[in-house]
Amino acid sequence: MITTVTLNPAIDRAYVINDFKPNNKYHIHVEDVKITAGGKGLNVARVATILGEKVNATGLLGGYSGKFIKEELDKLDIYTSFVQINEPSRIFTAIVDPLNKTETIVAEKGPVVTKEELNAFVMEFVKILKYSQIIVAAGSVPQGLPKTIYGDMVKIAKDNNVKMIIDASGNYLEEAIKAKPFMIKPNLEELEELVGYKLDSDYKIIFECKHICKQGIEVVGISLGDKGAIFTTKDGVYKVCAPKVSPINSVGCGDAFVAGFAVSIYRKNDLEEAFKWAVATGTANVIEEKIGYVDLKWVEKFYKEIKVKRLD
Ligand SMILES: Nc1ncnc2c1ncn2[C@@H]1O[C@H](COP(=O)(O)OP(=O)(O)OP(=O)(O)O)[C@@H](O)[C@H]1O
Ligand SMILES: [Mg+2]
Repeated sequence: MITTVTLNPAIDRAYVINDFKPNNKYHIHVEDVKITAGGKGLNVARVATILGEKVNATGLLGGYSGKFIKEELDKLDIYTSFVQINEPSRIFTAIVDPLNKTETIVAEKGPVVTKEELNAFVMEFVKILKYSQIIVAAGSVPQGLPKTIYGDMVKIAKDNNVKMIIDASGNYLEEAIKAKPFMIKPNLEELEELVGYKLDSDYKIIFECKHICKQGIEVVGISLGDKGAIFTTKDGVYKVCAPKVSPINSVGCGDAFVAGFAVSIYRKNDLEEAFKWAVATGTANVIEEKIGYVDLKWVEKFYKEIKVKRLD
């Protein structure tokens, strides 16, 4: 089974209000309120399910918001094995004003996780290893957890021969790399933050990816938005261009990309096929309004069009 880890899930709530102004009172129709279960790991779980795999979603959930998130996952037939925490999961509220093209955001900082809750999660993680072949850990980390959290998970997974894919940034990514996960997927910005300088050419990107790969990571996949991706393995460097499309919403493309890659590896496809699945699924997300959603028909169509070019 594929398992996704979401340590900091959220409810995303968007109100669509034309000509929004402070100090006013708005009465909103149900169809103008969009509520979704968010968080990168959950997006990966949703897309991998659409691609046809049974997925288990784990991580930390709390309060009434956590209850809502679990119910949403149940509706999609995603298994859940979240650890309950005391403080409620985050809620993001966006007021979208199509007329003035503005977006006003209220973002909760989210829960503070206690030591006991962290211990309970580690116990759950050890259990999950027994029935997972691939684990994807993605997204931000709530307060109270150490910066080594993803790295610690990678170490335990490796000891049990379970492949881990990490989609994180900053310190969490840096620490995860030290533990040598199967794959990391920073976008260009996240890679630049990691190496500490601007990567304005493929040459520089590849130079840095080779360096990371040599530290013992099997696949370094750098997603480049509409330009597709560059994958580096110990055997070579591969460039995969994204199909040309009219983008609708690019949020969650990286999560769809990771889901495509994870599903392909889970099906024991070779790496070049997995690269194509990743880019095809990422691009299928950009033509949808919904975040972390793809139409399988488009994924399959893009997959047939995509070519892998070996660079090195
Ligand atoms: N405008 C676009 N046109 C075609 N494909 C796109 C476009 N934007 C994204 N993609 C596809 O999605 C993949 C991942 O995109 P991107 O590099 O933007 O991820 P990301 O920045 O990690 O996204 P997020 O973190 O919001 O999920 C790309 O490799 C590509 O296949
Ligand atoms: Mg991303």
